[in-house]
Amino acid sequence: MIRVTDLTKMYGSLRALDGVSLAIEKGEIVTVIGPSGGGKTTLLRMIDLLEPADHGRLQFDSLDVDMHRPGRTKKLAVRRRIGFVFQQFNLFSHRTVRQNIVDVLCFGHGWPKRDAEAAADEALLDVDLADKRDAYPAELSGGQAQRAAIARAMAARPDLLILDEPTSALDPELTGEVAAVIRRLASDGMTMLMVTHHVDLAAELADRVLVLADGRIVEEGFVHDVLDNPQTDRTAAFLERVRPPGRSGL
Ligand SMILES: Nc1ncnc2c1ncn2[C@@H]1O[C@H](COP(=O)(O)OP(=O)(O)O)[C@@H](O)[C@H]1O
Ligand SMILES: [Mg+2]
Repeated sequence: MIRVTDLTKMYGSLRALDGVSLAIEKGEIVTVIGPSGGGKTTLLRMIDLLEPADHGRLQFDSLDVDMHRPGRTKKLAVRRRIGFVFQQFNLFSHRTVRQNIVDVLCFGHGWPKRDAEAAADEALLDVDLADKRDAYPAELSGGQAQRAAIARAMAARPDLLILDEPTSALDPELTGEVAAVIRRLASDGMTMLMVTHHVDLAAELADRVLVLADGRIVEEGFVHDVLDNPQTDRTAAFLERVRPPGRSGL
């Protein structure tokens, strides 16, 4: 469904991504793990064409996009097929939960307001947040805010859901409710690309894992192979850090 070929992104002289290639099949859940600063967020942002890459090709079904110069039409076409969940929720603070979703559908997708409102209400029901529809983001707990952000990302029924460490800004007792929503989307067959340090969640949901360090994929494979039997020192050291011995699951 999606193929990225030879993606490179420079920030000044820093090579944030260095020739990354990957493919995601429809219905697959791929997680990305790796040390802080390794390029995970940059990779997700490049796939959503949030800023231009220095080099790279994105194939999204029949769309074939030069990631350096995507062009307005293709950029819009790709972005309309992707839902993006940010680590820090990125809800607009002066808009209610429902308005946050409606705005994206009306201004980002060009939907009529009435359709947008109906889709927003449905998406909020799906994340058990119908009762917070008229609340402002500041009135929500972190878990509720992230569920609202997931509803916003899912409201237009994207083909791919991208999540950047969706539970890492939450207090531990709030990660469970967000994990439950992600679990439900997974069981509905949603195609996902998710960065997470939550290796228990990755082990439970993901089909494949990519390990990104210094802007390169240093290891990839089926989830249990990589997590239980890492082949590189980078991966083993990372897993050691995020998974101290004796730590229990969710
Ligand atoms: N907008 C930016 N400007 C300059 N450097 C950036 C920018 N965004 C990310 N970087 C740098 O690129 C590298 C990769 O960052 P990032 O993708 O956020 O890593 P990760 O998400 O794996 O922690 C880091 O060294 C980071 O400092
Ligand atoms: Mg990041």
